Amino acid sequence: MNALKNEDIRQVVRERYRRAAGAEDDAEDCGCAPSCCGGETGNTVKTEEIRQAVREHYGRAATEEAGGCGCSPSCCGGETVAAADEKSLALGYTAEELSAAPEGANLGLGCGNPTAIASLKPGEVVLDLGSGGGFDCFLAARAVGESGRVIGVDMTSEMVAKARRNALKGGYANVEFRLGEIEHLPVADNSVDVIISNCVINLSPEKAQVFREAFRALKKGGRLAVSDVVATAPLSEEIRQDLALHAGCIAGASEIEELQQMIEAAGFTGVRIAPKDESRSFIRDWVPGQRIENYIVSAIIEAVKP
Ligand SMILES: C[S@@+](CC[C@H](N)C(=O)[O-])C[C@H]1O[C@@H](n2cnc3c(N)ncnc32)[C@H](O)[C@@H]1O
Repeated sequence: MNALKNEDIRQVVRERYRRAAGAEDDAEDCGCAPSCCGGETGNTVKTEEIRQAVREHYGRAATEEAGGCGCSPSCCGGETVAAADEKSLALGYTAEELSAAPEGANLGLGCGNPTAIASLKPGEVVLDLGSGGGFDCFLAARAVGESGRVIGVDMTSEMVAKARRNALKGGYANVEFRLGEIEHLPVADNSVDVIISNCVINLSPEKAQVFREAFRALKKGGRLAVSDVVATAPLSEEIRQDLALHAGCIAGASEIEELQQMIEAAGFTGVRIAPKDESRSFIRDWVPGQRIENYIVSAIIEAVKP
């Protein structure tokens, strides 16, 4: 009860300072360094613009009754828990998994089931990049048991608040949620056994940095077990520049070869990217009538820190 109250207070304070930060954004300055003007500023604005669009999109998803605003640019129909669960069965979750997590944790925002590929063992430390309402964290928590630990990181304050409420509701003592960006992970070096993530890395405007951070956070021998969308054909520049399609897990999808190079450049070995053709059946519904499934599929992405 007390903890719920604390979370309410945190949320009010966060909202207050979020607005203040928004006002300051207008006063962006490039300073006096000769290397700073032109291109770099433009790039920073674009990166921030994408982050802001993504944050707003998922802020709405967190505050809708049961999500409904996820991996699809057309957003916020107010989806029911049953609809989110039905979607998740198609993504590879079992009915038992759906009933195991606290109600409201599954927002139907993923594009696969990373815990199904992570081979989690009791005692392991798991980090979930872009944890949303906490669904995958709660499933991971069961797998690693009381001797293990799960950390969810999300940059949308509404999501973190929702996930923390869900953890309290479900009485999860071995799960915590941290507000932060996956490009700047709020975790120590060499401290994590497994990194999971579900349909999030595509949303990052700085994916190479995400993989460098994942590498830093993992222990030697630690592994990546990620579910995400990949592009199987080049996306047009018009699509790439569309912020709504970016927030809807489409415009930011990397091509497989490019993704492989980024992961290897971060230092990982044993990189495996396996596209799932069957995912086209649900990706089709993200933008009905646009044949987006001819360009994007869900994939399993695995790698090891040697
Ligand atoms: C498509 S939803 C997936 C949520 C969750 N993984 C699931 O499967 O239900 C994407 C989530 O990632 C978060 N996110 C997007 N970009 C992020 C970033 N750069 N850093 C941290 N979180 C991010 C969003 O706030 C949102 O909660």
